[in-house]
Amino acid sequence: MANAVTCLLMAAVVLAPLFAGAAGGKLSTRFYDRKCPNLQSIVRLAMVEAVAAEPRMGASILRMFFHDCFVNGCDASILLDDTADLTGEKNAGPNANSVRGYEVIDAIKAQVEASCSATVSCADIVALAARDGVNLLGGPTWTVQLGRRDARNASQSAANSNLPSPGSSLATLITVFGNKGLSARDMTALSGAHTIGQARCTTFRDRIYNDANINGSFAALRQQTCPQASGTGGDGTLAPIDVTSPDVFDNYYYQNLMSKQGLFHSDQELFNGGSQDALVRRYSGNGAMFAADFAKAMVRMGGLMPSADTPTEVRLDCKKVN
Ligand code: HEM
Ligand SMILES: *[C@@H]1O[C@H](CO)[C@@H](O)[C@H](O)[C@H]1NC(C)=O
Ligand SMILES: *[C@@H]1O[C@H](CO)[C@@H](O)[C@H](O)[C@H]1NC(C)=O
Repeated sequence: MANAVTCLLMAAVVLAPLFAGAAGGKLSTRFYDRKCPNLQSIVRLAMVEAVAAEPRMGASILRMFFHDCFVNGCDASILLDDTADLTGEKNAGPNANSVRGYEVIDAIKAQVEASCSATVSCADIVALAARDGVNLLGGPTWTVQLGRRDARNASQSAANSNLPSPGSSLATLITVFGNKGLSARDMTALSGAHTIGQARCTTFRDRIYNDANINGSFAALRQQTCPQASGTGGDGTLAPIDVTSPDVFDNYYYQNLMSKQGLFHSDQELFNGGSQDALVRRYSGNGAMFAADFAKAMVRMGGLMPSADTPTEVRLDCKKVN
């Protein structure tokens, strides 16, 4: 009996990696050290080129990672294209015409497959590329935990319900991040991602015309390119989220909040007389403290795992299941 059980257990251990199993398992910083030793240099070089061609790409890939992780964990579910059987996340409200950089991930994946085929998950590539994007724009670096697996499913409705909207209140932001096991402090640090990148007029129109706690000259500046009437052509016009230095990962985001120049209602909620005011003040005066907290919070966010019953695999093409 004992022998039979041992035998079964051993068979399971030996055979497990061959199957497209369920999610789970521990992440490790050395997961690909032997299996794909060139992985990190391939990703880094590709991001060097992508960010040199367009600095905003560092921001776009960072946001892609956030939107992946908040929907059933960091499992590259966001990368799946819609098919007859699958309504994916790309066309969910927070992602459609908004999340970008898919082609950068596809190009990295092709290079990684050429170097070590069927080994590295798309989810891990996004995690590494997001880290490098931040660092290449002047932000911190950190060691990325690896060993994520790619989901064989995705959920447009989960993407619509799990991601915060730019109209969110502070209480809602704390709840949405709390639902993912992230603290209010993590939330405030991670929001510092808005020190880089661009946003469409539709996402901040309400704030620049209707909010009370906004800097008047800042509102006037943004109103110049974001007309009050929607559907008149200005909806997609971009503005930098950080008015001071949109291509540099620094702590000006927090200084802007203190002068009421947060672009989204949700940004300004972090400094509007509530529980995060003190932390915003500290980050605004201490860039090193922000950078360290941001890096730690990114590792925590990157640890969000798909639910145990999620079917997973190492996808060969990030856009579709094997
Ligand atoms: C706290 C709640 C958050 C809300 C409500 C929010 C909302 C938004 C919105 C509305 C945009 C503009 C999208 C568009 O115009 O198409 C945006 C852009 C961006 N978000 Fe957030 N976000 C939040 C947190 C985060 C987090 C945690 C990260 C990453 C750690 C992040 C990274 C970014 C980046 C980098 C951009 C610019 C992307 C680009 O230029 O392509 N955001 N966010
Ligand atoms: C994928 O399927 C599993 C099992 O049914 C489920 O728990 C998970 O939430 C699904 N993924 C998404 C993104 O909803
Ligand atoms: C509004 O923003 C300007 C910079 O554009 C700044 O000099 C000023 O102090 C801000 N006003 C308030 C009330 O914070």
